[in-house]
Amino acid sequence: MEAFLDFLANIPWWVWILFFILLVAIRDIFFQKAHTISHNYPVVGHLRYWLESIGPEMRQYFVANNREELPFNRIERSWIYASAKKENNYEGFGTDRDIYKHQHIFIKNAMIGFQSPKDHTNTKHPYFLPCAKVMGAYNQRKKPYRPASIINVSAMSFGSLSAAAIESLNAGVEKCGAYHNTGEGGLSPYHKQGGDVIFHFGTGYFGVRSKDGGFSMDKLKVLVDENPCIKAIEIKLSQGAKPGKGGVLPGSKITPELAEIRGVEVGVDVISPPTHKAFSTIPELMDLIESIAEETGLPVGIKGAVGKVDQWQELADLMKKTGKGPDFITIDGGEGGTGAAPPSFADHVSLPWSYGFTSVYKIFLDHGLTERIVFIGSGKLGFPGKAAMAFAMGADCINVAREAMMSIGCIQAQVCHTNRCPAGVATQSKWRQSGINVPLKSDRLAQYFNTFKKEFLEITHAAGYEHPCQFHMEDIQVNVDDDYLSSDIRKIYKYQKDKVPFTSMQDLYQCEHLGGKKELN
Ligand SMILES: Cc1cc2nc3c(=O)[nH]c(=O)nc-3n(C[C@H](O)[C@H](O)[C@H](O)COP(=O)(O)O)c2cc1C
Repeated sequence: MEAFLDFLANIPWWVWILFFILLVAIRDIFFQKAHTISHNYPVVGHLRYWLESIGPEMRQYFVANNREELPFNRIERSWIYASAKKENNYEGFGTDRDIYKHQHIFIKNAMIGFQSPKDHTNTKHPYFLPCAKVMGAYNQRKKPYRPASIINVSAMSFGSLSAAAIESLNAGVEKCGAYHNTGEGGLSPYHKQGGDVIFHFGTGYFGVRSKDGGFSMDKLKVLVDENPCIKAIEIKLSQGAKPGKGGVLPGSKITPELAEIRGVEVGVDVISPPTHKAFSTIPELMDLIESIAEETGLPVGIKGAVGKVDQWQELADLMKKTGKGPDFITIDGGEGGTGAAPPSFADHVSLPWSYGFTSVYKIFLDHGLTERIVFIGSGKLGFPGKAAMAFAMGADCINVAREAMMSIGCIQAQVCHTNRCPAGVATQSKWRQSGINVPLKSDRLAQYFNTFKKEFLEITHAAGYEHPCQFHMEDIQVNVDDDYLSSDIRKIYKYQKDKVPFTSMQDLYQCEHLGGKKELN
């Protein structure tokens, strides 16, 4: 035995390496049946799989230029990271964009911009930028709500995001007066860190689900009564990344905590169908909206991605006829994000935000209904320039999902669907999320939102206005094509945005329905 051990010890290290390579080659050729490349090119074939797996990171760090990547390029990501960390978010030497490029957006500045008087509300509160409309005011809901921030956290559930991420987002919105949309997964304890909440439900009715998987009004009433942080309810019809796509939450992922929050059984598969059980026609949807508003006293809205517009038309007709309807409408763009979706849906189903929003807004404008509705936009709008265009088209608020994720550390690894998010944001792994420092990350979200609001206000002032609700279609110009070169968006989309009633920032500050914590706004 000793002689054998001596023999092994005397084998040079490089012979061990050759031996190992030989074993891998034998496995590749004779035993594994899954990979043709490894079979035909034993050992070296592995390099291909390895290089393929690190390709996205290599391209992100070394190869892609500043404006190349999607969904968010390096300049956009860096602006969010720097804003969230309160670092220098300026760029030097001028823009690196080709500003003659198709679809480039221009905001028309005034010859002499808006001059704030010394005692202006924004002199004392530089980050105060609330919604100019009140949700539920027209329909005289019992508890109308004015979002205290025009930028807010879009629907993302506990389940698609980690507990630490949800906690950071909620504590963050509290610090800057914004609201936090729960997403489809129900209201979790992590959503209750002090921020305003919009409770959102989809076809799975998580958190307000009856035994047979339908909608339970009783559960919603209890939820709203027990949680005064809920300021409004959003019924999800669809989202831009996967309209009409149902889903299955595998029983293996349903822990006792998730089951309790979502109102489902531990370990049993749960199906979210592609459409709702609670309604199947527009009049039934209207009835549901009215009964939820009646029972809870809260403003009720809908969220949808836009494709065909005939049912939007039917909704507007019915609103006109009955004098009732949703208090807010969230329009999500086809460029919107998701925790997981088939590429065929994410790439092709539903219109991008500008096309979808304008076609729906126009319908409500033609019916004279815009004043009743708070219009919310989502789809890569978390940048002040893009938000200015959205407001000029008729948006009253914007929701951001991935931009908010980035402010708390997401690096756009695009692996939300694998549970292996390296930043701990979109994962349920306890280890990965333990790296998230909630107080620090919540500060970062608040700083990103505050920087956004400040910069957006500066752009608004440069255009000669006090509040972005005063932007109109002729304030924004877009490069169209070689024949027309460039045109204001009124000519492109063929409507003028309805005037939003606005008196002064001070009046908004004093509004009795203003959300957020007054002392923190
Ligand atoms: C991780 C993740 C989870 C999401 N979950 C939901 C959801 O539960 N319900 C929903 O309506 N939209 C959901 N969305 C879509 C976002 O709310 C938002 O509409 C979309 O991402 C566009 O905003 P963005 O471009 O700022 O990311 C999710 C998006 C992401 C990235």
